[in-house]
Amino acid sequence: LKILAVVSEIYPLVKTGGLADVAGALPGALVPEDVAVTTLVPGYPAVLAALKKPQVVHTFAGLFGHDARLLKANVSGLDLLVLDAPHLFNRPGNPYVDADGKDWIDNPLRFAALSRVAAEIGQGLVPALTPDVIHAHDWQTGLTAAYLRYSGRPAVPTVMTVHNMAFQGQYGRDLLPALGLPARAYAIDGVEYYGTIGFLKAGLQLSDRITTVSPTYATEIRTAEGGMGLDGLLRSRGNAVSGILNGIDTGVWNPATDARIAAPFELSRLAGRAANKKALQQRLGLDVDPNALIFGVVSRLSWQKGLDLLLERLPALLAAGGQLALLGSGEMSLANGFAGATTLHKGRVGMVNGYDEGLAHLIQAGSDVILVPSRFEPCGLTQLCALRYGALPLVARVGGLADTVIDANEVALAAGVGTGVQFSPVSGDALEAAIWRTADLWRDRPTWKKLQKNAMKTDVSWTRPAAAYARLYRELVAGRAG
Ligand code: ADP
Ligand code: GLC
Repeated sequence: LKILAVVSEIYPLVKTGGLADVAGALPGALVPEDVAVTTLVPGYPAVLAALKKPQVVHTFAGLFGHDARLLKANVSGLDLLVLDAPHLFNRPGNPYVDADGKDWIDNPLRFAALSRVAAEIGQGLVPALTPDVIHAHDWQTGLTAAYLRYSGRPAVPTVMTVHNMAFQGQYGRDLLPALGLPARAYAIDGVEYYGTIGFLKAGLQLSDRITTVSPTYATEIRTAEGGMGLDGLLRSRGNAVSGILNGIDTGVWNPATDARIAAPFELSRLAGRAANKKALQQRLGLDVDPNALIFGVVSRLSWQKGLDLLLERLPALLAAGGQLALLGSGEMSLANGFAGATTLHKGRVGMVNGYDEGLAHLIQAGSDVILVPSRFEPCGLTQLCALRYGALPLVARVGGLADTVIDANEVALAAGVGTGVQFSPVSGDALEAAIWRTADLWRDRPTWKKLQKNAMKTDVSWTRPAAAYARLYRELVAGRAG
């Protein structure tokens, strides 16, 4: 089976969050399922620089204003199609925002171009590369299904995966002609969305199947609270909507072979964790103390992640004998808040404001707990890394966090099955209670060790999710044939 994935970021070439991790890992995981994925991505400078001997498979005369090329290459084991359109993608920095953090003004055109090219590939632009299914990710690629629908030509089946309902890509209706969509596309069963053009809306309306990245989030987004305006549409799509949990790349995230950490370790030799704890304490200016309970955070600093609640309850975390090791980038107010705490609580709170993959690995390897107090979380990947690295996840019971961590409550402890701590509702009080509960568990080292082992035995790989995607693709193809 041949799949064309289309996505706006991909690990290890460009990454702003979990979307890139998923796009980078799923293709490899689908190989054993006999599914061959080619991924269409924008030709950002970092992507073009990574291509060795790309092959030009198509030349566009005037794609949204200027000429462009479609390049084919294999990078880091990924089969890529790269949209080399310098007027749209040859810019420094972030895929979505300029140096001042403002959205690139032409984002709708940039990602419409990506989507239109995906649709054209689906319709045989390069015959040898015509896919059986197109799999589009997030709002940036939502128009793919619209270009297919309104082209008037037979279309390949489409899957749209939502990684985050908070980002929807909404733009003025006056853009319709520039996007190259016919007037009839601006309709309630088309791209129209509350008087604007909705990229994600279009994808959810017009794709054959919709998935999101955990079963619980699939339920949440069909409620008024979680749907962020799209719950009605999602409910109307009935069984076309499903949740498939993410995995992590267990080659990249493997404590037994990880070159980015201070000492390798695994289930059968957990002693190596101590060296990582010490290295982490030294790196972040924390007091070197093997008995301190380190709470680690690796996160975007945004409202979604609930870290304002953590800042508010920091006194409790410290009173419980904890240290905080935080790596994050994003909102200035949060960064400043935590930076203030590092001076106020020297040796107890350490923070790096920025993006640092090596440190992300060390925090997973050296922390005792990984905190994820998100207000909503479609899946979340850092708690999966935490399980694999034997740091117990302390998470809000929402979205994928609810689906991936087994709360060490009395029943779970009696049955010997807990892997972390969950709290609900997402409030300061509930977070604080969970911190105290975690500290109680920490004092009982035999129990802690047992939980740690349970965590490390959890299957967080892509094996099961990849099988679920393969089933979905096959159903779609069979549906079209029948
Ligand atoms: P989201 O995609 O909402 O940001 P996820 O948990 O799905 O959340 O994925 C986040 C990914 O980005 C993980 O791979 C995590 O390790 C990584 N990450 C987040 N913040 C940083 C950072 N400041 N430095 C390095 N890696 C980070
Ligand atoms: C989004 C979500 C996150 C999810 C990731 C990958 O960024 O915020 O929860 O893990 O996408 O699907």
